[in-house]
Amino acid sequence: MEPQPIPQVSQYGSVDPAPPEPLGNVDAWRTTLLDETIPLFHRMRAVFSLRNHRSDEACLALCDGFDAKSALLRHEIAYVLGQMQNNVALPTLTERLEDNDEHVMVRHEAAEAMGAIGDVSVVPTLRKHALDPQPEVSESCEVALDLLKWVASAEFENADW
Ligand SMILES: [Fe+2]
Repeated sequence: MEPQPIPQVSQYGSVDPAPPEPLGNVDAWRTTLLDETIPLFHRMRAVFSLRNHRSDEACLALCDGFDAKSALLRHEIAYVLGQMQNNVALPTLTERLEDNDEHVMVRHEAAEAMGAIGDVSVVPTLRKHALDPQPEVSESCEVALDLLKWVASAEFENADW
């Protein structure tokens, strides 16, 4: 008997909630991502197509996706921005983390993405929100700070911050 087909592993080593939509370009995927009338599954496919594109313009299109009404979609966008490790996303991720009106899961994922990108310029913001009253936010900032510290100490034995 043939094995059941299962979702593929992405070029980032993750199994994603939706496969990328192979047809299209950054503008088309961005349009799909921002269209509130399109089912979430298809908008998520656009998210993963943009992630796999790996360009700055794809990264910025994903940042525009934070206008989406769905907190789930915004949380997924924050997650893939961490996978992309492109620091052009940092101003937007910082804004999401700092917005007290943003959903806590989006703020959590923004903080972890800021750690994953690996740019130490975000340390002061992460330190500030390591004291956030929301535990999902404060704990994510602690993890992100420890990740940045761990990377720095692996790179430079005497990193002292
Ligand atoms: Fe998460």
